[in-house]
Amino acid sequence: MKCRKCPQKAVINMRQHKLALCAVHFPQWMVEQTQRFIQKYRMFTPEERVLVAVSGGKDSLSLWDILWQLGYQVDGVYISLGIDGGFGYSQKSQALCEKFAAQRGLKLIVVSASDQVGLTIPELAAVTQRGKDKPCSVCGLTKRHILDRVALEGKYDALATGHNLDDEVAVLFGNTLNWNVGYLSRQSPVLPARHPGLVRKVKPLCRFYEREMAAYALVRGIEYIYEECPHAEGSTTIYYKTLLNQLEADRPGAKLSFYLAFLRAKEKGLFAQFFPEEEGLGAGGEVLHTCPNCGGPTTLEGLCAFCRMVDKVHEMGKQT
Ligand code: AMP
Ligand code: FES
Ligand code: ZN
Ligand code: ZN
Repeated sequence: MKCRKCPQKAVINMRQHKLALCAVHFPQWMVEQTQRFIQKYRMFTPEERVLVAVSGGKDSLSLWDILWQLGYQVDGVYISLGIDGGFGYSQKSQALCEKFAAQRGLKLIVVSASDQVGLTIPELAAVTQRGKDKPCSVCGLTKRHILDRVALEGKYDALATGHNLDDEVAVLFGNTLNWNVGYLSRQSPVLPARHPGLVRKVKPLCRFYEREMAAYALVRGIEYIYEECPHAEGSTTIYYKTLLNQLEADRPGAKLSFYLAFLRAKEKGLFAQFFPEEEGLGAGGEVLHTCPNCGGPTTLEGLCAFCRMVDKVHEMGKQT
């Protein structure tokens, strides 16, 4: 198959767009499209400073590469979680982020979860109730807290993550199955900061399929970690992704149209009653209080979930 724009061989055929492109025109198209999405959803401007959360995976490193090519003021942040999985997952991904930044002369901030909390994520999961057999919930809580704090301390205007269309559609599907209107109302390419302890969150890759991201990383020669987090295995998200891949195989474009129709419905105000525009309100319209310890938001008065977890760890440390 030939490229739509030149006589070269196409490296990817995007059936949902009826578009095949070569190794030169495909990455160009990805960069142009990202710029379009940034403007369409009013994510950030060239005058603003953006912090990209990089995990060492293909999506977040490609996002950093795209924003860098577009000339945005963009630094990276990597959170070292202390996950090994028998193959040095955290160490390997950190090394790849550092190499990526060094090759382009970009600034990477590295924060270690164990420096912040005193324990690695698997240790934290083992000592708190929350973790049960999987550390994913404590990991998510810790990552969100650290990312907000680093972005606020560095006075960044927006925090960008590498969530792609497949990620967003899996979340959308899960929230729709449960009719979780609070989460549905909050799911968006751009989430304004609704509390002084939060920063604007943006997802510039939310309209790209995972296979497009993989192809982009490949043609750009970006070295990334192929392995998923060892704890992701057997997760509900992966199950939903498998189901949705089956749907996409039968009906090309199904994921994209599901997501875009959801965004259009939201624009028309479908979930507006559950997520009023006012600052200081969380999803569901509940009042956001301020954590007396870290200044972050919390729906219950008193310490936020992260500070409560850290307190608990300290209490347990005193007892032993
Ligand atoms: P995940 O929740 O693992 O699918 O990751 C979603 C997004 O969160 C990634 O695309 C990154 O932008 C960000 N992220 C995940 N892990 C890390 C990490 N260890 N450090 C910084 N950002 C991360
Ligand atoms: Fe946090 Fe897997 S990345 S538990
Ligand atoms: Zn071409
Ligand atoms: Zn707190």
